[in-house]
Amino acid sequence: MKRTTGALRVALLGHGTVGAETARALTGRAAELATRTGAPVELAGIAVRRPRELPGIDGSLVTTDAHGLVTRGDVDVVVELIGGIEPARSLVTAAMEAGASVVTANKALIAADGVELHRIARKQGVGLAYEAAVAGAVPVLRPLRQSLAGDRPLRVTGIVNGTTNFILDRMADSGGTFQGALHEAQRLGYAEADPTADVSGADAAAKMAILARIAFDTELPLEEVRFEGITHIGPSDVAHADANGCVIKLVGICDRTPDGVSARVHPMLVPRGHALAGVRGADNGILVEALAAGELMFHGAGAGGLATSSAVLGDLVELCRERVAGRGAAQAELSRVLPHGPRSQVAARHHISMFVTDEPGVLSRISAVFADRGVSLETVRQEGLGAEAELALVTHPATDAAITEVIAGLGELTCTREVIRSIRLLGTRKEPVG
Ligand code: HSE
Repeated sequence: MKRTTGALRVALLGHGTVGAETARALTGRAAELATRTGAPVELAGIAVRRPRELPGIDGSLVTTDAHGLVTRGDVDVVVELIGGIEPARSLVTAAMEAGASVVTANKALIAADGVELHRIARKQGVGLAYEAAVAGAVPVLRPLRQSLAGDRPLRVTGIVNGTTNFILDRMADSGGTFQGALHEAQRLGYAEADPTADVSGADAAAKMAILARIAFDTELPLEEVRFEGITHIGPSDVAHADANGCVIKLVGICDRTPDGVSARVHPMLVPRGHALAGVRGADNGILVEALAAGELMFHGAGAGGLATSSAVLGDLVELCRERVAGRGAAQAELSRVLPHGPRSQVAARHHISMFVTDEPGVLSRISAVFADRGVSLETVRQEGLGAEAELALVTHPATDAAITEVIAGLGELTCTREVIRSIRLLGTRKEPVG
């Protein structure tokens, strides 16, 4: 990378909530940013979709020609805050090919194309940073890449979607339904009008793909991250969780398996004493377990314009420092291609609840279904009597494949009226986490 002398020139793509806060900092806190980077930092331009006046921004800096802005040759760092795959991918690629470093908050782009974009960044000798793409303001990618570079991360367990965390929190507090909590989240601005990406688990899966790559220096295609959402969670699941001393959370896990790496997202029962149970409302929380460091918890605001601009500006300052020093950007290597462990081989304790006929011998028939499939039971609880009888069982760690067979076997019994739900329990570091 060429050493930059004189002012560093920054181009912004997008002026939404995060873009506006980033522009405000660049114009309003220029002296402070210059001290941090070692050179003046100037706004070279802002690309927007439709021409408009931007408060506090010189009109001559505003353009609708994003491609022209990123390729004009005098831009040191491009900050991409438009989101989505295209035109973001083309613009980021063109910017790097024109010699600019790139900061982005675009989790969809990095989850889908991060491996290729890192290759381009390495080839061009420019920086590519995206702390804001995972957990908003919460620093976790840089700690994994830099602070833990001499350690060996073993597992990352996270609540990385604030919308679903808010909804599940409201359901636990109110005893209400998913739909009721979703409407409240939308009214308060925590959920989008179309909340599909959040409630389906897809948003969290994209973030876990990114976390897994950085934690384990491996290429991990987004398609390899299995995910399940929270739309089927109801008040009875919340009540079962409570009876087991747990809360329900949408949890993403990536870990080293004996033969590779696995990443997945699903609702889980989280014991109330677990660090992730204390992640409330729309916050995010990420627990990193590393061989030497042990457990490290990162917790804070996972979204919001001002909070997310903190992560964007942190990356921006770091990439500016690299240019001032003339250092080649220290890219994530992602050089290994670890095998992706099949999800069916990951073991977890499961909570299974079902309505049953309340008569002698039912329990032994049900427990035989578990025993015949090699699944051991930890606890069995009956609630209600007669036609209202409901059994709630907790298993010892068992694979998804074994639990699928158990549920099929339970469905064949005449005494089970409905297999209601199977939900994994989050374990501790001394046992499989799920
Ligand atoms: N929609 C995300 C969430 C925030 O609810 O956490 C942006 O990644």
